Parts: sequence; C-alpha cells; structure tokens
Amino acid sequence: ESLVILISGRGSNMQSLLEARAQIDRVTVISSNPDAMGLETARNYGVETIVIDHRSYPDRQAFDTALAECIDAYQPKLVALAGFMRILSDRFVQRYQGRLMNIHPSLLPALPGLGTHARALQEGIKIHGCTVHFVTPQLDHGPIVIQAAIPVLPSDTEETLATRVLQQEHLIYPLAVRWFMEDRIIMNENHVEVLDSSI
Ligand code: GRF
Repeated sequence: ESLVILISGRGSNMQSLLEARAQIDRVTVISSNPDAMGLETARNYGVETIVIDHRSYPDRQAFDTALAECIDAYQPKLVALAGFMRILSDRFVQRYQGRLMNIHPSLLPALPGLGTHARALQEGIKIHGCTVHFVTPQLDHGPIVIQAAIPVLPSDTEETLATRVLQQEHLIYPLAVRWFMEDRIIMNENHVEVLDSSI
C-alpha cells in the first residue's frame, strides 16, 4: 500500500516517516518547492521525488488540480503533509477527506497557524507540544489522532522550544501513519479512535 508525503522545506518529519516505513510498499515525496532540502534527503532514501512548483501555476485552484492529478496517479492510502507550506483549497481537502494527515507544532486547538513557538512563549503557556490530525477545510482544526506534550521551561527560547517539540513530532508522526496504514484508526463523527495503540 502506498503513501504520498507532501513537503515544502527541510523535510525532517518526512525523514522520520521514511525511517519507519515498515508496512508501506511504496512512498512518493512531492514538494511544492524545487529547492526543498527534503528532496535531497528523500533521494538518499531511494524514494521517488516529484516537484510541483506552486509558482508555475496561476492560482491555487490550478496548483491544487495539478497536485491532485499527481497524487491520484499513485492511488495512495494516505497523504501525509510534512511541513507542506501551501494552504489547500476546500475542494482538495474534501477529495482526500479521511486520508489526509498533518503534523502541527502546537497542542491544537491551541495555537493554529504559523509562529507557534514564539506565540507559546508570549502567551506564557506552560505546556506545549505537537499534534497529528486529519485535515479538514478549517486550517489546523481536524480530528486529532495523537499529541505529545512538553513543559515550557523558564529558560526556553523559540529555538529551544522548537527543537524539543520537533523531537516529539518525529516520534508521533510515524506512529500515527503506521496506525492508519494498519487500519488501526477509525473515525466516529469527528473523533478519532485508535483501536490498538501498541508500538
Ligand atoms: C514542523 O514543525 C511541522 O510541525 C510544521 O512544519 C515543520 C516542518 O518541519 N508543519 P520539517 O520540514 O518536517 O523538518
């Protein structure tokens, strides 16, 4: 069964998925950015990479259509966003509803959007973390699959916080993907139930 990973940059979450790819027959990485560092990493793992440069398309709809055509050629069981920096149209999101996942660097529903670590410090939040969730049309609001929390320390800066959250991201995203690929996740209304959360 196949997995498509969408990236735009560094690709460290993608890498954590590639490290843990047991149970996945085929992985394809698509980048919206031709200069994404993650492309090189993916190639080093022997994974097929494709660039769909958002700047080559006149608008979001045209980009999303090209992206969907490319994804559908692989008939993936799951599409995993991993640092994918384009906002997807509702039509795109609905097309993959229930099989489109994202990792977000905060404990959703707190701190949706960008700049989460700086905002966590600003708000004086004491517990921070990351969330894997299904993607729905409302940005950073879909059903939550798994979260990991870390304490915010008095000495923390945006960078130290980002580093510790990222370590957790690299643990939980492969778990969530594995559960999905092994049919261990069911959705009740808007709630995710993990049937067997063993490692
Ligand atoms: C991660 O913090 C992820 O949670 C967010 O964007 C960042 C991507 O990092 N969506 P990477 O490209 O996976 O290294």
